[in-house]
Amino acid sequence: MAINIKNDEQIALMRVAGELTAQCHRAVASVIRPGVTTMELEKEARAFMEVNDADPSFLGYNGYPAALCVSVNEEIIHGTPSLKKLKNGDIVSVDIGVKKNGFHGDCARTYFVGDVSPKARNLVETTEASFFEGVKFAEPGRRLYEISGAINDYVESAGYSVVREYVGHGVGRRLHEDPQIPNYRMPSKGPRLAAGMVLAIEPMVNAGRCEIKLLDDGWTVVTADGSLSAHYENTILITETGYEILTPVE
Ligand code: MF3
Ligand code: CO
Repeated sequence: MAINIKNDEQIALMRVAGELTAQCHRAVASVIRPGVTTMELEKEARAFMEVNDADPSFLGYNGYPAALCVSVNEEIIHGTPSLKKLKNGDIVSVDIGVKKNGFHGDCARTYFVGDVSPKARNLVETTEASFFEGVKFAEPGRRLYEISGAINDYVESAGYSVVREYVGHGVGRRLHEDPQIPNYRMPSKGPRLAAGMVLAIEPMVNAGRCEIKLLDDGWTVVTADGSLSAHYENTILITETGYEILTPVE
């Protein structure tokens, strides 16, 4: 497994791509409300990228048909934009990849639609918190799977489960670079982290069991038990002293 180390020039470009990805999230988040279709979120993202002379990383990737992944409630990832309307109480995971100057930013958030149940809210907040538990170990000299294990333990201690079939990844000139970054505890420690690595850390957390199912559309991944699922992802840079979030949405 060869993990790219980005040089200063490449890091500067990754910052630009990451910042645009975060801004695109803000644009999409601003139109989320009951009654809006997931296709309208797609349109908002496309317009943002067009104005900023950037390209959607996901469109055409392995044949993926859209710029956004929009996954509602029990949908985990890869929900394709459609004329389906969001409704009050839904949670909606939006995953965005933006390519600018040859480099990708990759970032996901799960948003609330109107008033959401305390249970759903807790799932989303736990998913976000698990990311931050993981990146406590994101610094040179640490091992990659310390991040994985910390995410796993935090999620399970909250009574939820992590998805195992999909993982985080290195990111740069390609959307998916080495290494793969599981959100579950690994039997080994994994590669040593070093300054200049750029990683997309992305816990996918199910309220119920971890098993998944692929819908007939060939893309949408849902929980097998129908329970809610949340997703939280940032592109991070490993720095000399720790990490920097390259996709700062909030
Ligand atoms: N954000 C997803 C990831 O991190 C990429 C979506 S895959 C695509 O791997 F097929 F939808 F593009
Ligand atoms: Co990703």
